[in-house]
Amino acid sequence: MMKLDLSHALLKEDVLSYQDVVSKYHDQLVNKTGKGNDFTGWVEWPNNYDKEEFDRIKSVAKDLRDKCEVFVVCGIGGSYLGSRAAIEMINGLYNKDKVEIVFMGNTFSSSYIKNVMDYIADKEVCVNVISKSGTTTETALAFRLLKQFMEEKYGKEEASKRIVATTDKARGTLKAIADKEGYETFVIPDDIGGRFSVITPVGLLPIAVAGIDIDAIMSGLAKGYKDFGDADLNKNIAYQYAVARRILENQGKDVEMLVSYEPQMNMVAEWWKQLFGESEGKEEKGNLPTSANFSTDLHSLGQFIQQGKKVLYETLLLVEKPTSDLEFPSDPDNADGMNYLSGKSVDWVNKMACKGTLEAHEVTGNVPNILITIPDMGAESFGYMCYFFFKACAISVYMLGVNPFDQPGVEVYKKNMFRLLGKN
Ligand code: PA5
Repeated sequence: MMKLDLSHALLKEDVLSYQDVVSKYHDQLVNKTGKGNDFTGWVEWPNNYDKEEFDRIKSVAKDLRDKCEVFVVCGIGGSYLGSRAAIEMINGLYNKDKVEIVFMGNTFSSSYIKNVMDYIADKEVCVNVISKSGTTTETALAFRLLKQFMEEKYGKEEASKRIVATTDKARGTLKAIADKEGYETFVIPDDIGGRFSVITPVGLLPIAVAGIDIDAIMSGLAKGYKDFGDADLNKNIAYQYAVARRILENQGKDVEMLVSYEPQMNMVAEWWKQLFGESEGKEEKGNLPTSANFSTDLHSLGQFIQQGKKVLYETLLLVEKPTSDLEFPSDPDNADGMNYLSGKSVDWVNKMACKGTLEAHEVTGNVPNILITIPDMGAESFGYMCYFFFKACAISVYMLGVNPFDQPGVEVYKKNMFRLLGKN
């Protein structure tokens, strides 16, 4: 299903020598005795998610798909990154599905917000507002605009049938609005934090509205649960990856760059950055998660990686089988001199670029490379990959002695912003 190759990682320690420490943190995670154990509901989620709610997600999604041309997802951070990552990875960046998914509530940019509002003005629209706390300012600001737009466009009654709220089961402003207006609601479980919530209605409803098979996502998740459930480092590649990250940090590598050769994986990288950045970046510890898309960024960041300061290691997130491929044509004139590739598949060219770059970065540039390969960019692979990164993240961060499941640092900007905005 997924492969991990550490033979290019230039590790100076044996991953397996960390078995004792990994076993200790594995026990803490599964027995809920570690730091932040109130937020480890995702660990057992593949077994114990609410099947009735899951069926309701599918039927509501079907209804919404029948009603709209544009589905606006209004949320930020963990309340949008996962669904966007899945939708772009699985459906590609330009697809002809009848429903287009558009994101709002993830910025204060007036230009962006107005741009979206103008874009959706004459279309059939439904909205999913997503906020666990129900009070996030970016989301609340965008949702007030959307709510007024929907009520003006459709009238209050029809608008309330076209708006779905995903929020806490009992608390928060959004829950109160949803109850008052009679919106369909889905619950964000108390014990699953935003960056782990793509596997709950937070991610699954928008993903289903995008026409993606969410049963396949849950099946991938269940396979991940099985494959990454063993404390034995020999058998668990998620834990091997977790340890490799810490070894590289001990070797002075403070930056991890997630690299993909597929543009439709760019939002997966954004989702991954939140997962690792918010989980790990505390108490002045942690690797800085960054990302690049090759070969595009080989024409920009490639210079730094090859010859710049040796602060980083690359984690290649590779795809075995592309979603589609095409054969490079021959040209009798050969004016561009490209006939040497005639008859070759474009994916083969991409893979050769990857091979050549790996050698350049590892051998000549002395940059460690961790290789993670997923079989394809389908829904099952997405679910499986989520569980891989969740487990790897939890163990890797526990190994730093840090609570992986809180994010106290994100409150500081809010406090200052509220003062400047005059909020009581
Ligand atoms: O990981 C997190 O908890 C955050 O990124 C949140 O998802 C983000 O701040 C949005 O919060 P909320 O869903 O409460 O609006």
